[in-house]
Amino acid sequence: MGSSAVSGLLVLLLVSVSYGLDNGLAGTPPMGWMAWERFRCNTDCIDDLQNCISEALFRDMADRLSEDGWRELGYEYLIIDDCWMLDQRDKEGRLQPDPSRFPGGIAKLARYVHDRGLKLGIYADMGSHTCMGFPGTPLHKIQIDAQTFASWGVDYLKFDGCYSNPVEQMLGYPMMSAALNDTGRPMVYSCSWPAYLGGLPPNVNYSLLGEICHLWRNYDDIEDSWDSVQDIIQWFSDNQDDLQPAAGPGRWNDPDMLIIGNFGLSVDQARSQMALWAVMASPLIMSNDLRNLDPNMRAILQNKVAISINQDPMGVQGRRLLQKKSGIDVYWRPLSNSCSALVFLSRRTDMPYLYHTYLSKLNYERLFGRPRSAPPCASSHHSRMTPQRETR
Ligand code: GLA
Repeated sequence: MGSSAVSGLLVLLLVSVSYGLDNGLAGTPPMGWMAWERFRCNTDCIDDLQNCISEALFRDMADRLSEDGWRELGYEYLIIDDCWMLDQRDKEGRLQPDPSRFPGGIAKLARYVHDRGLKLGIYADMGSHTCMGFPGTPLHKIQIDAQTFASWGVDYLKFDGCYSNPVEQMLGYPMMSAALNDTGRPMVYSCSWPAYLGGLPPNVNYSLLGEICHLWRNYDDIEDSWDSVQDIIQWFSDNQDDLQPAAGPGRWNDPDMLIIGNFGLSVDQARSQMALWAVMASPLIMSNDLRNLDPNMRAILQNKVAISINQDPMGVQGRRLLQKKSGIDVYWRPLSNSCSALVFLSRRTDMPYLYHTYLSKLNYERLFGRPRSAPPCASSHHSRMTPQRETR
């Protein structure tokens, strides 16, 4: 074999290793909106028409994403979560939406979403039932469900894991990956598998996940509170040696939705979630009411510096560098063009706190090292997102 054939082979191997599902999607962390955290399993369209899980809700959010500047910033996936289904499959064995809440069907909703330059995501569960008790996708239904989603024009699948056991999961998650590939329709594949196995090796095989899924939920569901955000940050940081190397273009850890704009976070706490999600290369999937968003919260979610850090093409997940006794944590993410992003997170609960440090003291390049000849950071990233005062 000549040397060019060998290098061709090498390139091919690299490509197939670094892109889950082999379809080139999710080269940077997916961005968009998902119903779950904010709208849950509200199926009461009689008493709560505005907020129930229905095609009207998703059309409203598609309008907002396309008309309020979100799409241009990269927020392109509109994702249906649990509770969209009828409690029985149709005569052909296909999943079907509840016709009272989705009278036009999913294919029509997908057209509506595509016409606005957006993409549609949907939810299914690798087990007998979804977490809220709707029809699941056991092993023998994987093929038909993948085909159904493709025929509707779906672009993204969140595959949950309630009511399945580890053996079924080990078979089912790779099987769905192959079934999505076989449809010929490029779809982003989000796997909840690790979250059902405790999220860590040896139970979780992150190399395999990187080959079959584009992103995966590692840990517990986010709730609308700062405690929940802090708990998630703590778990991901405490386990960064196992998690951080798993991430890269086409394969992302998912600490769950952005809850900015709901009821649980102050403006400073919302800034902290955005900054941490940016530096951890996390999917930026909001779950809030885009029809009714506080302007401060909108500004945080639309912060171009945070988004460009999150979407950095090198796709290296950041790490916690320091945990100070003072309650200040320091995070660092290396970016392309020899740039870096640093986040200083205050977990203090007393008052704004002045924290002094020096870049030389942080010594953050020791982790990855920068070649002496590297040019200085040359990008538009550097401008600050948070005020000088520490956030809490
Ligand atoms: C699980 C998932 C959540 C959501 C619900 C829906 O708890 O982790 O993100 O999809 O199921 O029932």
